[in-house]
Amino acid sequence: MTKLIFATGNKGKLKEVKKIFADTEFEIVSLYDLGVVPEIEENGITYAENALIKAKAIYEIYKLPVIADDSGLSVEQLNGEPGVFSARYAGENCTYDDNNRKLIKELEKFEKPHFAKFVCSAVFFNGKEIISTFGEFNGEIISEFKGEHGFGYDPIFVPQNSNRTLAEFTSEEKNKVSHRAIAFEKLKEKLLQTKIYG
Ligand code: IMP
Repeated sequence: MTKLIFATGNKGKLKEVKKIFADTEFEIVSLYDLGVVPEIEENGITYAENALIKAKAIYEIYKLPVIADDSGLSVEQLNGEPGVFSARYAGENCTYDDNNRKLIKELEKFEKPHFAKFVCSAVFFNGKEIISTFGEFNGEIISEFKGEHGFGYDPIFVPQNSNRTLAEFTSEEKNKVSHRAIAFEKLKEKLLQTKIYG
C-alpha cells in the first residue's frame, strides 16, 4: 500500500475520501492517525491556493505524499459568497448552524430559487509534483433545515434534479455525485495514470 496523508481535520470529508480511494492501492492516512491536527492558516484567495497551502504545510511536517482539498459554497445572488469564507461565514468559531441561519437570512431579500453550487479543489503534493483537480455540484438553497446526514450547508442545499436536501442523502449517495467526489475521483485517476506517487 502507498500511504497518502489526507490533510484535513474534517471527519466528514475524511470518511468521503477514504471511500473514494478504497478500491486502490493507496492507504489514506488521516491527521488523526498521525496524532496531530495542526491549525493551518488558509490565507489564499482561491480554493486551489488554499488546498496547496494545506498540502505543503503537512508535507513539510511528515515528508510523505499528501492530498488536500479546499471547498465551499458559491451562491449566485450573493455574487459567489460565502466562497472561500464558507467555513467562517458567520464569524470565527461559528457552528454549521450559525452559517446556515446567516445564509437563510441574507437570502430573505431575494426571490427564489436561490441557485448555488458547491465547489472543491483537490490537490496532490509529494515535495516535487503538484496535481490539481476541480469539482462542482449545482443546486439551490432552501430556507428550512432538512435531514441529519452530512455536514456544513448540507441541510439547506437541494441538488439539481432532486427533491431532497443533501443532508437527506446517505453518505453513499452523496459520495457518487458531490463536488468533492468529482474532484477526488479525477485526482485518483490522474495519480493512477501518472504513477508519480511516492
Ligand atoms: P474547508 O474545510 O476549508 O474546505 O471549508 C469548507 C466549508 O465549506 C465547510 O466548513 C462547509 O461550511 C462548506 N462545505 C464544503 N463542502 C461541503 C459539503 O459537502 N457539504 C456542506 N458544506 C460544505
